[in-house]
Amino acid sequence: MSQKATTTKRDGFSSRFGIIAAAAGSAVGLGNIWKFPYIVGENGGSAFIFIYLISILAIGVPVLLAEFIIGRRGQANAVRSFKKIAPNSKWSAIGWMGIVAAFMILGFYTVIAGYTIHYFILTITNSFAGMNSADISQTFNTFATGTTLPIIYTIIFIFLTLVVLFGGVKDGIEKYSKILMPGLVGIILLLVIRAVTLPGASAGIEFLFKPDFSALSMDAVLDALGHAFFSLSVGMGTMLTYGSYISKKENLTSTALSIAAADTLIALLAGLAIFPAVFAFGIDPTSGPGLVFITLPNVFLQMSGGTFFGALFFFLLFIAALTSVVSIFEVIIAYITEELNVGRHKAMALITLAAIVISSFCSLSQTPNSSLIFNGHTLFDWMDLLSANVLLPIGGLLIMLFVAFIMKPSDLEDELQQGAKSIKGTMAYLTVTKFVAPVAIAIVFLTGIQALFN
Ligand code: PHE
Repeated sequence: MSQKATTTKRDGFSSRFGIIAAAAGSAVGLGNIWKFPYIVGENGGSAFIFIYLISILAIGVPVLLAEFIIGRRGQANAVRSFKKIAPNSKWSAIGWMGIVAAFMILGFYTVIAGYTIHYFILTITNSFAGMNSADISQTFNTFATGTTLPIIYTIIFIFLTLVVLFGGVKDGIEKYSKILMPGLVGIILLLVIRAVTLPGASAGIEFLFKPDFSALSMDAVLDALGHAFFSLSVGMGTMLTYGSYISKKENLTSTALSIAAADTLIALLAGLAIFPAVFAFGIDPTSGPGLVFITLPNVFLQMSGGTFFGALFFFLLFIAALTSVVSIFEVIIAYITEELNVGRHKAMALITLAAIVISSFCSLSQTPNSSLIFNGHTLFDWMDLLSANVLLPIGGLLIMLFVAFIMKPSDLEDELQQGAKSIKGTMAYLTVTKFVAPVAIAIVFLTGIQALFN
């Protein structure tokens, strides 16, 4: 068995477009289309976006690049890559933390992903017809706090991700991402065109792009920093694992920049698909997590063509979530297949079982009088808070320190040099960010910890 694992050629991406589609597929997810718009709404719009863009450049991109470098250098899963680059050290603990974070994110993320299927069905069957906003909000609350329906949809969602993962990296993840990601871009553009051509849409556009720094609080800055991590899928080995599948011909810096640009653009387009419509119908943009599942069905109900555009929106959310969950699974699959010498499909079965158990508990923690509430937060919230506020920032910090101070500078330069004309710009950028990013990350982490106990 172990011989087979070492002699067969490692699976990997076969084209530049495939790498970008798969990695952007991981980055673009519920974080962009569900969370980004609502935190923008809660934090006053454009000034928040400005801080978010700085966070992406100052900490998101350097950590993303660092993960690609470690993965491609190590040519292995998130744990073994560290062991290969720094033998006999404890740095592989970063990979372990990533695996724990992967299970936690799977726990809450697949629950929301399941909602997207339910909402797709509700909109396409025109089930909201005749409802007022109180009914729509009641519909959501009854569904989300139910004991069976959300779990069933979560399980259906997980099985759909297995379809993508089944064929492996090139014939599964890459093949599907190359179809799904252009589809996602097409759908979001259609939705943006519909939203910005509504009468009264300009108030929403202004909300997104006219800076109002008075609305910006310290919490908003920290939210922006933390979200940059989550949105780029960094800090837990996802991009490291994908990096290990990138061929030696590719330029890692330009790949990382393209992915960050795609991720940011899609988040902004999601804002442009949502806020102009929300403002056009005079609805409050600050409704928080319910923005997509409560506010938007109201919007679609009033919009001409609302059934079509509503169904399209939830399908978009579904695709975005699908390619992200695929990447989280892949971190664990790569680990299990390479370290425990278990076949890919058996590994997928084991992870699926675990994911179903964790996500069912997460979903059940939202039912009335659930006993899965600890210190005032549901298990669902704990999985979200512990991964996004604790594990991802610590992981990102350590990854940054590893590349900046532990890896041999010649190895680092060698990785950056592949496919690149000059690495002067990248080296200058890394020289600055290797000091800025760790400080910024440490602040996010410390404040995140504090938030957990409030
Ligand atoms: N980046 C994804 C999103 O924005 C979430 C994610 C986080 C995916 C971490 C993989 C790893 O929704």
